[in-house]
Amino acid sequence: MKKDMKKKIIVGNWKMNPIALKEAMKIFSSVRRTASKLSSTHVVICPPLLYVQKFASSRAVSPISIGAQNVFFEEQGHFTGEISSSMLKNIGVNHVIVGHSERREMGETDEIISKKVQAVLEMGIHPILCVGEKERDVHGLYLDVLKSQIKNSLAKTTKKLIGQVIMAYEPVWAIGAKEPMDPAIIQEMAIFVRKVISDMFGHENAMKTLVLYGGATNFRNASDIINLGKVDGLLVGRESVNVPGFVELLKAVDAV
Ligand code: 13P
Repeated sequence: MKKDMKKKIIVGNWKMNPIALKEAMKIFSSVRRTASKLSSTHVVICPPLLYVQKFASSRAVSPISIGAQNVFFEEQGHFTGEISSSMLKNIGVNHVIVGHSERREMGETDEIISKKVQAVLEMGIHPILCVGEKERDVHGLYLDVLKSQIKNSLAKTTKKLIGQVIMAYEPVWAIGAKEPMDPAIIQEMAIFVRKVISDMFGHENAMKTLVLYGGATNFRNASDIINLGKVDGLLVGRESVNVPGFVELLKAVDAV
């Protein structure tokens, strides 16, 4: 890998899987073994919170970053059931998925997401900010949807901190689907995401911002999406808990 080359980033979003710690440990050690052999790919695993602490405190964690799938925006206090970014930071978490469409579906608004993004950034953690349209229409209204999600979710962010944000473009209709978005269209969408960021934070910052793609990625399509979609990495759902598939995906991406 050339010195000035950015590492590709593969984020495994395990969602609410698997149901037992033993199985989680098995998946994690296999991924760790593969991750330690990669040269141009950084792996971030976002397991359910119960397993986050276990993995984040494990001393052999080095080739993998541990992320959470959610966070609350207040630092501490009377917020039953919530976890703060300070708590995550204290156990060694350095990435947090924010605004996943599955959480937006549960009622999370752009306003809430913007507070979460800010809380995470102030703690020195990278938010992996998910945006994406529910459907595509012939009039291109989905572009307005995307633009307003990005603008509102980053409303509290400053030029100083935007470089820490990782954008994850996940068209909702491709999540859990059979096929991903066409890589040529992924490329257009990644340009669009950067354009909105450029309008808000300037061209230089936009060019530095990492943009990932998520939705129906697997070991077969991963390298095409990186190559032709010109994204900085992937946010992987199902395939991230399927060990053989994920191991192949990591190898394929590393070879790009
Ligand atoms: P799938 O890869 O299972 O389609 O899920 C994508 C996703 O939601 C990742 O956050």
